[in-house]
Amino acid sequence: MSTFLEEIDHTSLPRHIAVIMDGNGRWAKKHGKPRIFGHKNGVQAVREITECAAETGIEYLTLYAFSTENWGRPALEVTALMHLLVETVKNEIKTLMKNDIRLNAIGDLNQLPKKTHDALISGIEMTKDNKRMTLTLALNYSSRWELTEAIKVISTKVSDGTIATEDINSELISAHLTTHNIPDPELLIRTSGEHRVSNYLLWQIAYTEFYFTDIFWPEFKKQHLLEAILDYQNRERRFGKTSDQLI
Ligand code: IPE
Ligand code: IPE
Ligand code: MG
Repeated sequence: MSTFLEEIDHTSLPRHIAVIMDGNGRWAKKHGKPRIFGHKNGVQAVREITECAAETGIEYLTLYAFSTENWGRPALEVTALMHLLVETVKNEIKTLMKNDIRLNAIGDLNQLPKKTHDALISGIEMTKDNKRMTLTLALNYSSRWELTEAIKVISTKVSDGTIATEDINSELISAHLTTHNIPDPELLIRTSGEHRVSNYLLWQIAYTEFYFTDIFWPEFKKQHLLEAILDYQNRERRFGKTSDQLI
């Protein structure tokens, strides 16, 4: 583990890392346990990765915790997940305060069960002045939902004359997304061997570097995060230009 830490260049860290925490269910199955056992162990990984990201100097960490499509799972799993979220947010406040981490959430929060919603809002409020890192939970989030909402707001502004059609540009669209106060991620990590985006931050990842690992989320440890950061640092980000232009 320490080798990765030593190899990391602290002057060129990604400011924002987004994660699709996947594989809880398969990890549980591998251990002959129910899926919710995987989610519970996934919380342990959230704790470890959050702490490691903050210690490494990452400014923004955004974790995909529940997608709008996840409502389609068996009711028992959805209920257990919502309950786990309440418990986790409540239990983690102390650690977030100790580590100076601000909690944030993106997604259609009003459609969450009241207890989950309230625990989240109170966690956000309690940590709002923390400065070291912003931990964003994507909860009842999907990119198509987010873009649809942004289009509704923008079109209302056009029709009531607040903005002109000509004012619509990339910056204006970004400013109407739930991530308006967060820079685009430089690095996106997905665990569990799946190579897809599953409706996550579609607009924001236009030039993000992707890192896929076969490791299931409950097994994703500090050393794996550091390995992903190191891999990112060995990429050449060209943004449409040629290699020669970057020298
Ligand atoms: C990710 O693990 C957690 C959530 C989507 C809530 P999964 O529950 O998707 O686990 P797999 O992909 O079925 O193994
Ligand atoms: C993506 O994982 C959503 C979260 C990690 C919360 P899923 O397991 O729901 O994605 P798919 O269904 O495999 O694409
Ligand atoms: Mg999955």
